[in-house]
Amino acid sequence: MFDVKKVRNDFAMIRNHPDLIYFDNGATSFKPDCVLESLMHYYTHCNSNIHRGDYDISFEASNMYEATREAVKNFLNARKAEEIVFTAGDTASLNTIAYGYAEKYLKEGDAILSSEVEHASDILPWYVIAEKTKAKIVFAPVKEDGRFDLQAYEECLRNNRVRFVALTYVSNVLGYIYPVKEICALAHRYGAVVCIDGAQAVPHLPIDVQDLDMDFLTFSSHKMCGPEGVGVLYGKKELLDKMDPLFQGGGANARFDAKQNVILKETPYKFEAGTPNVSSVIALKDAIGYLQGIGMEELAAYEYELASYFLKRLEECDNVIVYNPHTDTGIVSFNIKGVFSQDAATYFNSKNIAVRTGNHCAKMLVDIIGVGDTIRASFYFYNTKEEIDRFIDVIKETTLEKCIEVVL
Ligand SMILES: Cc1ncc(COP(=O)(O)O)c(C=O)c1O
Repeated sequence: MFDVKKVRNDFAMIRNHPDLIYFDNGATSFKPDCVLESLMHYYTHCNSNIHRGDYDISFEASNMYEATREAVKNFLNARKAEEIVFTAGDTASLNTIAYGYAEKYLKEGDAILSSEVEHASDILPWYVIAEKTKAKIVFAPVKEDGRFDLQAYEECLRNNRVRFVALTYVSNVLGYIYPVKEICALAHRYGAVVCIDGAQAVPHLPIDVQDLDMDFLTFSSHKMCGPEGVGVLYGKKELLDKMDPLFQGGGANARFDAKQNVILKETPYKFEAGTPNVSSVIALKDAIGYLQGIGMEELAAYEYELASYFLKRLEECDNVIVYNPHTDTGIVSFNIKGVFSQDAATYFNSKNIAVRTGNHCAKMLVDIIGVGDTIRASFYFYNTKEEIDRFIDVIKETTLEKCIEVVL
């Protein structure tokens, strides 16, 4: 197991805020020094546009950019580096698939299969595509506790002409891991293509896209120790080849003329029109290297241990309601009885504790857990049990009166 104390020292945000307890890692993660140094190195040593310059610093930047593609390929165990497309983030990746693939191939009467657990970024693009193509949206019913129901899912596949499945890998509110391998196998048996939103999974779990047989996988760099403004769209090469890009422009075309003939570049370059976020893509490689240095298995086990410890200690707090007492990951959602979640968060903030509250962009989940707003604590590998102990002390003393005092 890695040395958490040593790891914490790699993060300037932790060094600069020694008393801050940051439990909002589901929203975004801190960045280790190697990522910050990588950004600085690019801007001080090889700042140039990529794939366009016939000079050394551009060659260097281009090679580093492509090295990240190779690193992501290895991280996900994709077959080829061409299966990795860089976007502006998870949301951008999902929209690229929606407009470039789903809109092109779905027809009236087809179904897009989703679930009511999904984050806005993994449902709103499909709403638009459903309206444009006259396909319908079908929600796979989840179990009472919000866990995925494979039997109900298969029934949906059997009873509808499902051509596209869009589901999350890990719920950003409940922390449950969806059975992605079975989801993909069943979808393929019924002739559907599967797009997995990996925003809360790729930063926290070892992932093998070949073993899971996903067709598309999307995620953001900023939630996995990398810089903001970069996302990844993984797609099987044959699907990316038949898909259209979301944007047209420089860098993505091989030729065009005044008669409006356009020949696009090959996958993945046809998807990367315009100057990309070069520095951040390059630094994503350092983030991946950092996570691999810790070990994704170890990281996942440690985060689960933190969440289990937190849940155990929450049992001592009779002022708390927990919505996912059997989380699979480092995400725990709860409320303080009789206290609005945002008021509780404001009180926690007065004690230097950062958590996320509200509906967490999963606005349909209210029908499943029966409440629209929760407090979400989301742990990452640099959090500690000592931080949890401090949080528990604060939770125990939280009352409506104390919250009001801080809010007013
Ligand atoms: C499950 C899930 N999907 C999608 C997103 C959107 O990610 P981004 O804002 O990085 O595009 C998030 C962000 O919190 C998420 O948790």
